[in-house]
Amino acid sequence: MKDTTDRTTTKPFVEVKKVHKAFGPQPVLRGLDMAVNPGETIVLMGASGCGKTTLLRCLNGLETPESGSILVNRTTLCNTGDTESQYFLQGDALHEFRASVGMVFQQFNLFPHLNVMDNIMLGPVKVLKTSKEEVQETTQKWLDRIGILNKASHFPDQLSGGEKQRVAIVRSLMMNPKLMLFDEPTSALDPQMTREVLDLIKEIAEQGMTLLIVTHHGRFAETIADRILLMDNGVIVEEGPPPQLLNTPQHPATQAFIQGLL
Ligand SMILES: Nc1ncnc2c1ncn2[C@@H]1O[C@H](COP(=O)(O)OP(=O)(O)OP(=O)(O)O)[C@@H](O)[C@H]1O
Ligand SMILES: [Mg+2]
Repeated sequence: MKDTTDRTTTKPFVEVKKVHKAFGPQPVLRGLDMAVNPGETIVLMGASGCGKTTLLRCLNGLETPESGSILVNRTTLCNTGDTESQYFLQGDALHEFRASVGMVFQQFNLFPHLNVMDNIMLGPVKVLKTSKEEVQETTQKWLDRIGILNKASHFPDQLSGGEKQRVAIVRSLMMNPKLMLFDEPTSALDPQMTREVLDLIKEIAEQGMTLLIVTHHGRFAETIADRILLMDNGVIVEEGPPPQLLNTPQHPATQAFIQGLL
């Protein structure tokens, strides 16, 4: 776990204030507040349907809230404030912002028609305009590190779930994201593959990147998280260091959730 003791003068890296997001008549985020410090590893937990994925999608600009403010690494995504001015990041600035946030999904989302190498290289070459030779070298280093250099020319359907997810994570990392969001990255994997993926996420956390991870793995959260946030019904109802939240949960929703953890 990283040292988070001296953060009194640090401005939050992610700041979410009073965010509301509905789908049609159904409110999902209901005035959510949250702050994440630079370099922190946050685990977000909560019952199915409470709005975790929606929150992550708002944080990387894939969904736009109706109201509230979201600031990520000095970029204001939206700010409806209490004045009449309503600000929403749009156009090229929004695209640029999205490229600076890595998102890893439950279902890997690799391009099925591209091999491992091309899946990883596409973003850095096309979006970041890094030279092909340079990207190739870094990609090979990464593939070696995750133990699948021999599968560089395989296509996604020739990989195991754990391999696919590790490729998806490396693909995200290659874009040099400032923030990484993981949405239940291991829920489609068996225990062995889960371990391999969680080890890789742990390695990334230890390098000091700011991470927000949705997971139901209590033991993993315990070893990796600086704080766990518990979400219920569209708001954060409780937060704290893992031992506190896992062993002495205060809110009824947290208590109910912790009982059902893996
Ligand atoms: N694009 C959408 N259109 C309509 N409703 C949506 C949409 N996305 C999410 N919802 C609804 O919003 C609510 C919250 O969904 P969300 O996916 O954020 O929950 P979650 O906490 O991630 O759940 P899970 O743990 O099952 O992944 C759900 O009731 C869902 O049906
Ligand atoms: Mg979800």
